[in-house]
Formats: sequence, C-alpha cells, structure tokens
Amino acid sequence: MPNAADVKQLTEEITSLKQQRNAIILSHVYQRPEVQETADFVGDSLELSRKAAGTGADVIVFCGVHFMAESAAILSPEKKVLLPDEDAGCPMADMVTARELRAKKEEIPDAVVVCYVNTSAEVKAECDIACTSANAVQVVASLPADKPIIFVPDKNLGHYVSLKTGREMMSWEGYCHTHHLLTADGVRAVRTRHPDALLLVHPECRPEVVAMADHVASTTGMLRFARENAATRYIVATETGILHQFQKQCPDKQFYPASPKMVCPNMKSTTLEKVLKALQTLEPRVTVPAKIRERALNCLERMLAVQ
Ligand code: 13P
Ligand code: SF4
Repeated sequence: MPNAADVKQLTEEITSLKQQRNAIILSHVYQRPEVQETADFVGDSLELSRKAAGTGADVIVFCGVHFMAESAAILSPEKKVLLPDEDAGCPMADMVTARELRAKKEEIPDAVVVCYVNTSAEVKAECDIACTSANAVQVVASLPADKPIIFVPDKNLGHYVSLKTGREMMSWEGYCHTHHLLTADGVRAVRTRHPDALLLVHPECRPEVVAMADHVASTTGMLRFARENAATRYIVATETGILHQFQKQCPDKQFYPASPKMVCPNMKSTTLEKVLKALQTLEPRVTVPAKIRERALNCLERMLAVQ
C-alpha cells in the first residue's frame, strides 16, 4: 500500500480530474482499500452492472476485472469504459470460450444456456440469460421447468444453484482459484481458532465448504447479513478485499478471513496510480464489437429483469 501522503495526493488528483471528465468510478469490493475509498460506488457484480447501466456520467472507470468493464460497455455503449489495468482478467471467465460453448449447445440443442456474469462478451452472446452470485438462484428458478439447462463456467456456483432450486443442470468444469483453494480442513482449522464466529461463505467455494456455512451469499449479501445480524464475530470465506467493507460498515464487529491466501491477484492489480493515469489518458478503453454486443445485451437485460 502507498504511504498516507501519496494516497491523499493521488486521491485529490483523481477527484478533481473525475469532475472535469464527468466520470464515475465503480469499484468491486475485492479491490485495494485505497481504491475502494476513491470510488463513487463500491458493490458486488450485480450492483455494479446496475450502476453502469443507469449512470449519467460520460466516462466509467471500472476498478474490477475485464468481464465487469465489458458488461458496462455492453450496457452503456455510448460511454467510455476504462479498465485501469488492461491485464486485469478473470481466470475463471477464461475457462469457457464461445467455440467450446457452441459445441456443447450442439449436443443439447433445446437447452437454456445460463452464464455467470464472469464470462467474456463473446460467451454471453451465446447465452440466453446471465446471472451473478446474488441472483443465480432466482434466475435459474425463473426458467421453464421442462427445459434442460447448461450453466457456465462455475461448477461450484452451479452445484449450489442446483441444490437450492432442485434443477439438474449441465455445469461447466470452471472454478475460481481464489475461492477453490479453501478446503473443509481449512475451515475446520479457522473454526478451532474462532469457535463462536459465524461462517459466511461465497457460493464460488467448494460444495463441502458451502455445506459448512451459517450463511451463503454474494459479497453484498454477506455484508448485509453481518450488518443486520446480532452476532459480533464472523469468519469470511471470500476474497479478503471485502474485509475493508466489513470493518467500515460494522466497526464494532470482528471479521476473520477463512484463509489469508484468498487474494485475487487480478483484483489487486488496479492501483491509484493506474486509476489516475486512466483518467488522464482515457485509456485503456474496453469496447465490444456491435454484433457481439447486441446478443450479449439480451442476455444481460434478461438477467436485470429478474427480481
Ligand atoms: P460477487 O461480487 O457477485 O459476489 O462476485 C464475486 C466475484 O468473484 C467477482 O469476481
Ligand atoms: Fe475471477 Fe475469482 Fe478473481 Fe472473481 S475472485 S475475478 S471469480 S478469479
């Protein structure tokens, strides 16, 4: 982390340039604390998509990973969407390609294809409806009961959604390294150190870890649960960047990472220096070719229509 004086200076420059550019800064909760602090809005993938779709700004600086900026560009094509680190990708999103998915669709031609929002625009263009971890259960529950379902790319989220909805799905074999590294033994070890803490688990974790949870939720769902629940101690099984929001929103409660290794390097590659440079140069810009955008937009709009 840069020293406090540098953070102050960079934050001031970012704030002033942001106004000149009529820009909005959106940050995922896994970003570095100082990046979250410069953002106009901090949230989960679903909330960030909604903000990107509704903002009146001319420029969106997306402090997150590539698929998130791409979703913003799909939803708001007239705006300049900037991804401060152009190499900030999502390894899980890269686990399914449009070509592989087309081959699977040929095997099950009457299937409804659901994609986790953690996918490329090209993959979304092949899908019927998107979902995030916050609405995946509602999205799958909204599908016709007589249709087979292909779910890409997260097998862990797919497993959780199947359990909750009772729908069998053909789940892809993808996963998030950051969440998958947490094992049931790892949870048992941290619970031994904090026996009275409630366990909050993100559905990208392994099924055996999800089964141990006191509460399973998206990042925003976890924050809401801790704010509203009387318990004062929590073990948090998701990327550790979220601890900044837990401490900010619930300063009188204690939060412990389920594993300090749950760090997504892609989420941490955005720095204040890169945010400032993006505002100065209006680069790196993320765009989506019109042909792909139109089809991917359908898939995102259907998701946003599900309550
Ligand atoms: P949510 O913000 O939807 O909980 O997603 C977690 C994630 O891994 C985003 O990359
Ligand atoms: Fe992708 Fe996992 Fe990083 Fe989220 S935390 S961006 S799912 S690799």
